[in-house]
Amino acid sequence: MSMPAAFDSKLPPDECLASGEYPLTRRDLAEIAAMIYADAGIYLNESKASLVYSRLSKHIRNIGLKGFRDYCQLVSSPAGAAERRDMLSHLTTNFTRFFRENHHFEHLKSDVLPELIARAKNGGRVRIWSAACSDGQEPYSIALTVLSMLPNAADYDFRILATDIDPKILALARAGSYDATALETVSPAMRKQWFTETAVNGRQKWQVDDRVKKLITFNELNLMAQWPFKGQFDVIFCRNVVIYFDEPTQMKIWSRFGGMLNGKGHLYIGHSERVSGDAKSVFDNIGITTYRYNGKPHGGRS
Ligand SMILES: C[S@@+](CC[C@H](N)C(=O)[O-])C[C@H]1O[C@@H](n2cnc3c(N)ncnc32)[C@H](O)[C@@H]1O
Repeated sequence: MSMPAAFDSKLPPDECLASGEYPLTRRDLAEIAAMIYADAGIYLNESKASLVYSRLSKHIRNIGLKGFRDYCQLVSSPAGAAERRDMLSHLTTNFTRFFRENHHFEHLKSDVLPELIARAKNGGRVRIWSAACSDGQEPYSIALTVLSMLPNAADYDFRILATDIDPKILALARAGSYDATALETVSPAMRKQWFTETAVNGRQKWQVDDRVKKLITFNELNLMAQWPFKGQFDVIFCRNVVIYFDEPTQMKIWSRFGGMLNGKGHLYIGHSERVSGDAKSVFDNIGITTYRYNGKPHGGRS
């Protein structure tokens, strides 16, 4: 995948685009942007210079390098493979919240889960995918919604797959331990039933119960890579991630989701995202950032 022209090659490569402790030049930023685009599909242009500077400069000091030039050389060399993966963790935005964009969870509960739960109770298989799950608040919110209707959901073939590209954020997701601020959007009744209050190093924490965790499998997955799934999904949550991709990449992802959904499966996307490209013909927009696969064949379905 080659990077679309985001940097004007006629402009001076050594011009400083952001500075503080070290200068970040146009060449440095273009190299970092090309690597993150190739690795994760994330599109950065010159307007992101200060963001890249603020996310990486402290780390560059911590690993004892002299500046962005040395860092670019390291992460583009075979010896810097681990550092390059780490760069991804620094540059991705992990903001999330329990029950973020709550209308999706309300729709799931009223319009989608009744049929899926009936199927599970009849011995059928149900699969929900949280496709960029960050530190787990999204898949745990899905699980809590399911459990509010079917407290013994784990006894059925009812599972949530939660994936993210960033192994560090996935480790937090698996741990399932959150501070009180994160729990503000979880109802007191849910907190009481599905979390345990603990103290970690003197700080109040809320630990997700194992009965919730049992419903979820966390796996590392890059949306840009091959997807290793055998079966299809009934619901996909892919929210607030494709916004970081360029338009052609977004269009490919929507088509691939069409290929991953069961007959009339649902797709929930982020508040500033819209299904675009060929996939528009196979997804009916049935609510705010809520889509339903209409079963028509298209390119993404194999
Ligand atoms: C802003 S968070 C969104 C979390 C959650 N979906 C929500 O809406 O609250 C974006 C997440 O996408 C992940 N991400 C970025 N690029 C990715 C890629 N190519 N494949 C999979 N996940 C990616 C990041 O690691 C980050 O955790």
